[in-house]
Amino acid sequence: MSAPITARLLKRLRRCALSAAAAVVLIAGAVAGGAQTAQAAGTLPCDLYASGGTACVAAHSTTRALYSSYNGALYQVRRSSDNTTRDIGVLSAGGYANAATQDSFCSGTTCVITVIYDQSGRGNNLTQAPGGGAAGGPDNLANATAAPITVNGHKAYGVYVAAGTGYRNDHTSGIATGDQSEGMYAIFDGTHYNGGCCFDYGNAETSNNDTGNGHMEAIYFGNIKVWGYGAGNGPWVMADLENGLFSGVNAGYNANDPSVNYRFLTAMVKGGQNQWAIRGGNAQSGGLSTFYSGARPNVSGYNPMHKEGAIILGIGGDNSKGSAGTFYEGVMTSGYPSDATENAVQANISSVGYTTSSSSGSGSLTPGSRISLQATTACCTGDYIRHDDADTNVVISGISSSSSATDKADATWIVRAGLSNSSCVSFESANDSGQYLRHYNYQLHLNANDSTSQFAQDATFCPQAGHNGQGYSFQSANYSTKYLRHYSYTVYIASDGGSNTWDSATSWSDDTSWVIAQPWS
Ligand code: AHR
Ligand code: AHR
Repeated sequence: MSAPITARLLKRLRRCALSAAAAVVLIAGAVAGGAQTAQAAGTLPCDLYASGGTACVAAHSTTRALYSSYNGALYQVRRSSDNTTRDIGVLSAGGYANAATQDSFCSGTTCVITVIYDQSGRGNNLTQAPGGGAAGGPDNLANATAAPITVNGHKAYGVYVAAGTGYRNDHTSGIATGDQSEGMYAIFDGTHYNGGCCFDYGNAETSNNDTGNGHMEAIYFGNIKVWGYGAGNGPWVMADLENGLFSGVNAGYNANDPSVNYRFLTAMVKGGQNQWAIRGGNAQSGGLSTFYSGARPNVSGYNPMHKEGAIILGIGGDNSKGSAGTFYEGVMTSGYPSDATENAVQANISSVGYTTSSSSGSGSLTPGSRISLQATTACCTGDYIRHDDADTNVVISGISSSSSATDKADATWIVRAGLSNSSCVSFESANDSGQYLRHYNYQLHLNANDSTSQFAQDATFCPQAGHNGQGYSFQSANYSTKYLRHYSYTVYIASDGGSNTWDSATSWSDDTSWVIAQPWS
């Protein structure tokens, strides 16, 4: 054990002696607290739309389940080496994509996304778009590895639409037709767009041809100005209603439709009888803004609407395919969703922690990967979570390229599927196989897995976007207000301003935020 750690442990021991009596009381309360799961039942987007009386009739995502009960395939990939396909499912019901399946299936070859399955049970899958009036086909399929991200700490892939790429379903069930009401949202990469026609997700013609004004109702994202546009230089969220992208009631310019460039963008369009709306927001935090809500455009042909009920992704209604963008998830509903329902959907979206790999560190939380966990508090950015063999304690200490091989291995962890919840993670020591980070009396220890459910819960942590905007925060699976935190160089689970010294509100956000770094060993 190095001298600085010894000094820190002595300091900590003094503190622990003082709080020993309080700990007995806390343990009793803690055991009574019982297990909690990271994601309560019934809070995913399509659960929320159903509660609002506007059920999803199509639900597409390559990153996660959109119903709490969904336990099926999210999408299918095809590899070039032998042209075989593989379905990519979820890690658990209502959970996140099992990107490791794709990574191993596509290892050493290339893969494209062949099917984006409909989770609604209506079979409204998206597959390779056929040719249409504006451009021949079939369109290209998306490279399956071109849009890597993490969501709730799990590696996942989006649908990367380069110009020429497109998905469609001309034979749908339950999608609005004529002047029927519907709602839609999608999460896009707000930094990937162009001025081609037309990066859309939503309702289009079943013939792949331009059949006239009002025959489409889809979310558009990009900066083409041929039809409509809003404030600034774009990109804008608009509604593709056929022969027109609309940013408000007028053809052309509408000042209230802002340029939006969030890395993860929530985009919404809904349409009913002589009413429609455009809404949007940051998919990583905050609420939605309404960019337009009111009557149908003051241009002939759009009231009533003549929706046909096909579904497109990445192309225009007539298969125009000059556009680019990235799609992570989206749904279409039956009925005109209330703003309150959409706000609840946005709250779920912003809670799941969509992030890019680079803002969360260069390591991955995919089970099996080796990582180091780096502190983000200004004092301690050279410090990593580590143990040593002198005791079971877990601390942070400085590790650098000149550290000993033992110190480096002590600061290296293997990510495992969470022992009590496979949507979360556990951390196994890289040099003490079978031993995991777990809390006991709210302090972290390295202990052997004794296969009890108590151990499984104490050793399971649910990643979220980092409280200070960096990396991740790790919520205890059985104490949902407590997160992995360093305090005086010792690691605990801590709530923000709770009764233990290590619950101190000072620096809580920083002390609970961790970068997933390359493994030290
Ligand atoms: O409405 C804009 C575009 O016009 C549609 O997507 C396409 O079908 C037509 O070219
Ligand atoms: O760390 C808090 C609790 O302390 C753990 O859940 C339990 O193992 C111990 O009683």
